[in-house]
Amino acid sequence: MSEKVEILIVEDSPTQALRLKNILHEQGYRVQMAMHGQEALDIILDHEPDLIISDIVMPEIDGFELCQRIKKNEKWRRIPVILLTSLTDSKNVIKGLACGADNFITKPYEPKYLLSRIETILNNLKLRQARKESQGLQIIFGGKQYLIPSEPQQILDFLFSTYETALHQNRELVKTKEELKRLNLQLEGMVAQRTAALTAEVDERKKAQTELQESLNKLHKTMEGTIHTISLMSEIRDPYTAGHERRVSQLACAIAHELRLSKDQVEGIRVAGLLHDIGKISVPIEILSRPGQIRDFEFNMIKIHPQEGFDILKKIEFPWPVAQAVLQHHERMDGSGYPKGLSGSEIILEARILAVADVVEAMSTHRPYRPAIGMERALNEISQNRGVQYDPRVVDACLLLVKEKGFDFESV
Ligand SMILES: [Fe+2]
Repeated sequence: MSEKVEILIVEDSPTQALRLKNILHEQGYRVQMAMHGQEALDIILDHEPDLIISDIVMPEIDGFELCQRIKKNEKWRRIPVILLTSLTDSKNVIKGLACGADNFITKPYEPKYLLSRIETILNNLKLRQARKESQGLQIIFGGKQYLIPSEPQQILDFLFSTYETALHQNRELVKTKEELKRLNLQLEGMVAQRTAALTAEVDERKKAQTELQESLNKLHKTMEGTIHTISLMSEIRDPYTAGHERRVSQLACAIAHELRLSKDQVEGIRVAGLLHDIGKISVPIEILSRPGQIRDFEFNMIKIHPQEGFDILKKIEFPWPVAQAVLQHHERMDGSGYPKGLSGSEIILEARILAVADVVEAMSTHRPYRPAIGMERALNEISQNRGVQYDPRVVDACLLLVKEKGFDFESV
């Protein structure tokens, strides 16, 4: 049947027109094409097609008007017209009825569905022609009166096709909804699976982190113990300076804190303070513990202790410059110190802090060769040499701590 059927496509979009033409060709229909309403009317005038498929939105003569003109023509009114639309509201349905259209097909359409509609219309056409023509039907919709000129069979076909289109759309929606539901479930499954894997990974990492922290704590305790043992060893050899290194360490840390150094740098200073006199291990015990005035040759022997301390500590891989701070703790800003006579910025900050803490602690406590000089005089000593032998910032921090913030070795 389709071999003899001729269909006129009225479509202003060349892509849409070509797609439709191919669908119809494949089915064996003969196809004519018009780009707009007037061209369609010219073609019909020249040669009547068996069926017309028209777009609605077109310049000048739109699909509704084209359909109306065809249906008003006694000769042409039997030609079925299918309107291609995006059936958005009831007004379009009424307009479609009013212009006498036979069918609505929504865009985008499925070729299979379109072809089945064409076939139904062509079959019903014979039925329709067998019936008497009616006078039309008046309806009021949205406050407006419409005259539906179509025959009852045509109206029925039209409404049936509209209903079928709606059903088809609904089926598509349900299908899409089910597909979405399936995808959601799949996605939820994937998320649950991934979450479980991630949770396991996080737990594993937390465990590893805890173990690492425990190892670090153990290591820190071991290191701490070792440093204290070394510190105590030097104090055992030199009982008159018992507690000296710990107190120097305490004051040096307080100064470093006052200077707002980082927690890590303060820790380095604490360790360097505890070990700063370790080199005294190499100084004969008689010299260290002999009461009375120290002699020149004895002082020269004592002066080797920073270098000795450095030689011992340089082999240890501290994360801070402990060996350098120990080596430089008797250096002075004006170059008058030992062992190298370094000056100014050649001396690292850690050593400059140790120098002040060392002097203040030593003067304020008892020594074998002299009684305690006292804190007052210790502070005078650093004040007088502020910017000469000692770093002025370090001196200021120390004065502030002792004089205003109540720093006391006993209370630390
Ligand atoms: Fe020293």
